[in-house]
Amino acid sequence: MGGSDKRKWIGERRRTKDRRSLRDRRSGADRRREDRAHADAERRSHDERRRAERRSGRDRRSESAWQPVALDAAVGNPNDDAALVAAAVDAREFARAQFSNFRVGAALETDKGLVITGCNVENATYGLTMCAERVALYKALSEGKGLRFTRIAVVADTDDPTPPCGSCRQLLWEYCGDIEVVLANLSEVKLRMRLSQLLPLPFDARLLE
Ligand code: THU
Repeated sequence: MGGSDKRKWIGERRRTKDRRSLRDRRSGADRRREDRAHADAERRSHDERRRAERRSGRDRRSESAWQPVALDAAVGNPNDDAALVAAAVDAREFARAQFSNFRVGAALETDKGLVITGCNVENATYGLTMCAERVALYKALSEGKGLRFTRIAVVADTDDPTPPCGSCRQLLWEYCGDIEVVLANLSEVKLRMRLSQLLPLPFDARLLE
């Protein structure tokens, strides 16, 4: 920062230090104290509400949404997977995987049967790479509010299943909940799981309450 910029910045800080309005400064009033009292009261009532919720068992943090799900409960209808997997296979064709040559396709399904696809998109800095799952998710979210997701299919040309990476698991959990994850290659479904099995103890908005 240059000398004059620095002075300007310090001056700015001095000018903004007393945040009272001009009228209050002239009259000597200090509403900040009232504001603080108001904020304290709000915090107290929020804390009381949380305590009451915990006592009444309505505490959403104690809900069992992130408990691991039994494997048989996680398995969907295998006949149902074909169309979703086919959509992921098609999307994979558009993968921009010129650096890793690892092409991935994803297809996200909503409860109304809508399918939104994605492929991985890489770039020369490597670090800005976006996985197929998140491309599909962001495309879906940008289509509008109120979509409820049921499944995602992920396809790569590998013998072993290609599970979503940690970042994708987090984002899918937060926006889709405990969806079914169908992992397939170009010829068959390799594994079906619930997202809660892939992310058994997630951090999410409930922990910010
Ligand atoms: N990739 C995905 O698109 N999804 C996954 O589930 C795993 C990895 C992509 C990111 C990168 O472009 C390439 O695969 C190699 O990591």
